[in-house]
Amino acid sequence: MSVLNRRHLLQSAVPLATLAATTPALAATDTARPTSLLPDDDLAPRERLLLDFDWKFAFGHASDQARDFDYGLALRTHAKQGARVASNLGHDYDDSGWRQINLPHDWAVELPFAQSPEGTPSNGEDEPDMLAAHGYKPVGRPYPATSIGWYRKVLPVTKADLGKRLWLEFDGVFRNATIIVNGFILKQHGSGYTSFQVDISDFLNTDDTPNILVVRVDASEGEGWFYEGAGIYRHVWLVKTHPVHIPQWGVVVRGRTNGEVEIFSRVQNDSDKPVRVSIAPRITDATGKIYSLPILTAVTVPAHSGKTFSETNLKIDTPVLWDIDNPHLYRLTSEVQVEGQTVDKVVTYFGLRDFRFDAEQGFFLNGKSVKLKGTNNHQDHAGVGSAIPDALNVWRLQQLKEMGNNAYRCSHNPPTPEVLMACDRLGIVVIDETRKMSSSEDGLYQLEAMIRRDLNHPSVILWSINNEEPLQGTERGITVARTLKRLANHLDPTRPVTAALDNSFGKGISSVVDVLGFNYRHHLMEQFHADYPHIPILGSETGSTVSTRGEYVNDPDKSFLRAYDSEHPWWSSTAEDYWPLFAEKPYIAGGFIWTGFDYRGEPTPYNRWPAISSQFGVLDTCGFPKDNYYYYRAWWRTEPLLHLFPHWDWAGKEGQTIPVWVHSNLDAVELFHNGRSLGRQPVVANRHLEWSVPYVAGNITAYGYKGSKVVLKQTRETTGTPVRLGLSADRTLLAADGRDVAIFRVEAFDAKDRHVPRADTLVRFDITGPADVIGVGNGNPASHEADKASERHLFNGLAQAIVQTRRQATGRVTVTARAEGLKPASVILTVV
Ligand code: GAL
Repeated sequence: MSVLNRRHLLQSAVPLATLAATTPALAATDTARPTSLLPDDDLAPRERLLLDFDWKFAFGHASDQARDFDYGLALRTHAKQGARVASNLGHDYDDSGWRQINLPHDWAVELPFAQSPEGTPSNGEDEPDMLAAHGYKPVGRPYPATSIGWYRKVLPVTKADLGKRLWLEFDGVFRNATIIVNGFILKQHGSGYTSFQVDISDFLNTDDTPNILVVRVDASEGEGWFYEGAGIYRHVWLVKTHPVHIPQWGVVVRGRTNGEVEIFSRVQNDSDKPVRVSIAPRITDATGKIYSLPILTAVTVPAHSGKTFSETNLKIDTPVLWDIDNPHLYRLTSEVQVEGQTVDKVVTYFGLRDFRFDAEQGFFLNGKSVKLKGTNNHQDHAGVGSAIPDALNVWRLQQLKEMGNNAYRCSHNPPTPEVLMACDRLGIVVIDETRKMSSSEDGLYQLEAMIRRDLNHPSVILWSINNEEPLQGTERGITVARTLKRLANHLDPTRPVTAALDNSFGKGISSVVDVLGFNYRHHLMEQFHADYPHIPILGSETGSTVSTRGEYVNDPDKSFLRAYDSEHPWWSSTAEDYWPLFAEKPYIAGGFIWTGFDYRGEPTPYNRWPAISSQFGVLDTCGFPKDNYYYYRAWWRTEPLLHLFPHWDWAGKEGQTIPVWVHSNLDAVELFHNGRSLGRQPVVANRHLEWSVPYVAGNITAYGYKGSKVVLKQTRETTGTPVRLGLSADRTLLAADGRDVAIFRVEAFDAKDRHVPRADTLVRFDITGPADVIGVGNGNPASHEADKASERHLFNGLAQAIVQTRRQATGRVTVTARAEGLKPASVILTVV
């Protein structure tokens, strides 16, 4: 053993630039504007208006009609069209007692946590009861007073719009939405995850009476075993267009690596006369270079019917491919022309890429072998629940991409469209999954809605029709899966169909799908491959270490799990248990960790109060990385990495052995404790390093070697009491659009400017200027503090605040974090 000497210091001092790499670049640059990642195209003469703002909201009641605005009263609701059902919420209704809200909105996250009543049934030993599964929020049949939400809004429609075609596009409502316009029930939509459209043209007022949209949302019945939120939790759009137009999801574009492009455009003529229609498609690349395409020959579309135009002979010279490293997108503008006039316009982004799954060699993108390094994710985040602002969705994906994640499984439902737009733009491939494996009319509808909405995204590579549905291994399952697959192939002949199984590998629907997903059970993969060498396989759910950020000892009373890569439920494994196999075997196309982020609900393994969220994530519910994040970052990326843990604040444990781990992809690592070497260990690929260190206050330091040179160094020191707060934002330049958000990280430092890893101070966020805190969190899986608040305790040294701009309110925003006895910290945002 050597002692720490000048040579070490000099060696560590040399590659300063590389040293910075020990801290992943979680903070983006000041000027980066993730929202601008998402398209905002001028579609004139079409209007597509975002209806996120100025809604009124009130609770109804699931069992008391009088408290549910008389909804369902015999003869009123369904018996007579345009009768009282919603006319008592009509234009002259006084909603001043309702709350003013903006979308996306999740009322479940606003409610206090509620413990399951005594005797609530659960599904079995490993399963939480339904309330626990949904994150202990009082939504569902036992909570009639907080399970129905009513939304009301004046539609931005004028008399000038009469004669046009108008429809609403709901990206997602949880769930059972009843859409009422001017007192008419126009749609009842069950699924909480599919996007849908409601044509309102015939129901608009022809005088100056305001047009009132009312949406009743009934979240009494859940669809999943995880937190699902409640309400209009995605965007709503109002489309106004000419009677001759491209309907929703009416353009299909397919691009290949040789530059060939096929375009299919549906045109609907909702006028009373036949019209001669032509389509002028125009493709531009990311630099704006135009590839003008011929105007497609005029075709007569009869009154009140539609026609599909196809253009299958297009070729882009010198094609730029869509790839994980360079996700280049082309933009297709489809203009509908009648008598030389452009009457409608739709913009579609697409990529030129080919991919295939090979049963022997795995996944290939554009002819290159790519191991899928994926994560599964649900759709909720600290502070905001399932109502995730677009910029936060982009940020979440950036954290994953930063880890080396190149693939994303939308478990277990189609995501909000912005997630796919961001994956297209960040270079992340996607498994898009339907919620319901059923060939019932509704099941087929859900699959169809997902495929038709999502098929132009180059990021999407697989349609998933099943996640561990009990019928997966049965004859009935085969029948159902065949029907679903037939539909998927019909709607999209370019993508394979997959299913995520947790048993019956080689049986049941294994024979139906193109690519078979293994949920865990990776020890069966080798034999499966030997038995079925023609079936491509991947790990649809893999790993699943459960851990609490910053905790290193299990504490069941607090629902904490040590953050070494050691704890996992019986059906899953640690990272180090599966990834070495996946890295080594070419026939395994890759794997998707369960999960990228902790999510609300499913508080495995404790499955009981006070735990309110899952702990499977490599990032916590705020997106703060846990230690396993660095295991993946070390082995999923090539840049040198060194991560040393745990912290070195173990007062009271003097002399006791502390396991010290390092994740590193260098050649060797040497650990020092208070200047004394505890030995240098060679790094074995896809494995961590470990030392047992009797605790003495001071520090531990790891030196990472490339050959004989130290290239990275990391230290953990025993810290003092906090004296000041530190505050940082992912971005400081924001858009004054009422949607953009900055993600704030607050932490505590001691007198020597060291981050204090166990700090648990209560922090208050004060704001001056045009922005608001829309949610706070700290990643503690058992915290019952409110998400909708402007204060939060630090949990293991960290807390988060999400700050949103206001519409058309520009200026300077000062966000200040304060805590008793500590020096406050401020960040200034510029909102333009
Ligand atoms: C899987 C399931 C996931 C989640 C996970 C927890 O079986 O597909 O949705 O429940 O288990 O370990």
